[in-house]
Amino acid sequence: RHGNHVTVLGEQYPTDAMTNISPTIISKLPLRLHTQPSHPLSTLRSLIESHFPSYAHLSSLSPIVTPYQNFDLLSFPQDHPGRSATDSYYINKDFMLRTHTSAHEVEVFGRGENKWLLTADVYRRDEIDGSHYPVFHQTEGARIFPADASGMKEVEDDNVRLAAHLQRSNIIIEDVPHLSPQNPCQPAHDPEHTKLIAQNLKLSLNSLMLHLFGGRVGATAENPLRVRWIEATFPWTTPSFEVEVFFRGKWLEILGCGVVRQATLDNSNVSNKLGWAFGLGLERIAMVLYSIPDIRLFWSRDERFLGQFKEGAISTFKPYSRYPACFKDVSFWLPEATSLHENDFCDLVRDVAGDIVEDVKMIDAFTHPKSGRKSLCYRINYRSMDRSLSNDETNELQAQVKWQLINQFGVEIR
Ligand code: PHE
Repeated sequence: RHGNHVTVLGEQYPTDAMTNISPTIISKLPLRLHTQPSHPLSTLRSLIESHFPSYAHLSSLSPIVTPYQNFDLLSFPQDHPGRSATDSYYINKDFMLRTHTSAHEVEVFGRGENKWLLTADVYRRDEIDGSHYPVFHQTEGARIFPADASGMKEVEDDNVRLAAHLQRSNIIIEDVPHLSPQNPCQPAHDPEHTKLIAQNLKLSLNSLMLHLFGGRVGATAENPLRVRWIEATFPWTTPSFEVEVFFRGKWLEILGCGVVRQATLDNSNVSNKLGWAFGLGLERIAMVLYSIPDIRLFWSRDERFLGQFKEGAISTFKPYSRYPACFKDVSFWLPEATSLHENDFCDLVRDVAGDIVEDVKMIDAFTHPKSGRKSLCYRINYRSMDRSLSNDETNELQAQVKWQLINQFGVEIR
């Protein structure tokens, strides 16, 4: 950031009171891990694409979108927490980093695509631990049909084909009704059409789950793949669902999906179509399929990581040595009548220590009864994935964290 401008992907943007994009985040934007050959995220993308061969496969849309694209066009209410600067990265009040691939639905439907997949990096401000990272990857998929007899015939035929395939497979599905009072049909839609679409959505995704996990959990008669459907809510779909898969003894949340709302279709100039969309997070799935223990590893350039993988093949990650953890605490008083969001603290630590920070936890918070001032204590776990850190190095990082706390937030170190 220079003065009142910030450069993002080679373009200059004016900054304002909303600006909170950090140098660490800006440095991630060009990397596009989902397109790097042999990277686990790229292999997972191809694996999903290969299951939908007749769909358009998109993976190069810019991560810079407007809040209008990311939220308003998808009917997010004005007071939705996702809009706040504590949860999302803003370049300024007019531009932000997409928080989900759904930000492109209206644009892609609007281009006339009826069956498409879109894989991309998405950005959310979050805490720091082994399974959260402020950048991750999603694949969005969608299919829309003409909202008339010919379109519904197409859905029915596809449902027959998919159901036959699933019937021959070793999969157990815990279903929920296509429609329910909490998960209703759109007023503008015929409930019978919506049910056909919801069924097509479920069949298509059950079949994708079989493609991704089937071979790996056996999916034998004695050990079938288990998939569970749950009712959900998203502002731009109804009915909406979440899908979970039982894998290595745990239910794993895989994706969100639903029947696209008429408002979203209208915004895309496809009012006369009807269909479904889903969005799935790639890291979480790749972590279990490859047994990758820490989400930071996806960003490693170490050959001991990258050298293990071949494009198109899912293999089990062989951990190389784990280096020692180093815990450092920092306690401080906040200036009177101010607060510090945990996500602000985490971005500050990332800007100082990058991927050397493994975990950040608040271990104490209290308000002084007389002065009313607030005191916080955070414990930072520094651990490199590639090498041993020296004492001097972690002390220097910790000193930088303290200095930035004073500098950016005017705290008083205790
Ligand atoms: N965008 C949603 C998420 O990030 C997932 C989703 C996509 C839900 C499409 C419904 C339809 O959680």
